[in-house]
Amino acid sequence: MSESNPVLDVIFGRRSVREYLDRPVPDELLEKILLAGIWAPSGLNNQPWRFAIIRDRSVKSQVARLTRYAAIIERAPVIIPVFIDRESMYNEVKDYQAIGACIENMLLAIHSLGLGAVWLGEILKNAEKVRDILDLPETLELMAVIALGYPAHRKQKSSRKPLEEFILKEI
Ligand SMILES: Cc1cc2nc3c(=O)[nH]c(=O)nc-3n(C[C@H](O)[C@H](O)[C@H](O)COP(=O)(O)O)c2cc1C
Repeated sequence: MSESNPVLDVIFGRRSVREYLDRPVPDELLEKILLAGIWAPSGLNNQPWRFAIIRDRSVKSQVARLTRYAAIIERAPVIIPVFIDRESMYNEVKDYQAIGACIENMLLAIHSLGLGAVWLGEILKNAEKVRDILDLPETLELMAVIALGYPAHRKQKSSRKPLEEFILKEI
């Protein structure tokens, strides 16, 4: 019988959550989520991530208009646009990888706290407009918007191709 492993349970149990209850996310949970994000690894420990935290309904609506996933943003009690600070960067590829690690840490923390989230990337086609709505400088480049809240249900399904399809070589 295999032993329980809380980290693997969270990794395998996390699903993208796109529908939320009309219930606020407590500040202390939000802080834990952001801390999980900033404890991601980064090249030279340069920590290039920056976050906006948006609960305001009218600002959320303005952001929602910039993506075909507007309904997700409208229903989420909180959205977290994640930016990279171009002035903190040292290597394009490695800095983008660090942002991905940061976002995944946050998604896993969110799931572990009984909340749900989705990583929204389609909105990047309007990255500059999001930055303008938030009145942030051009040195900040939008990487994703995380929409989160208490899940309206846990019926989300997902799948992966068989592992063998990804293994290039085993020597
Ligand atoms: C870079 C990236 C961009 C994504 N953009 C969107 C998006 O714009 N809208 C959306 O509903 N889901 C988006 N997703 C979520 C994926 O659809 C989801 O992770 C994938 O279908 C696997 O499902 P799972 O997260 O439940 O395992 C994105 C995920 C990533 C990593």
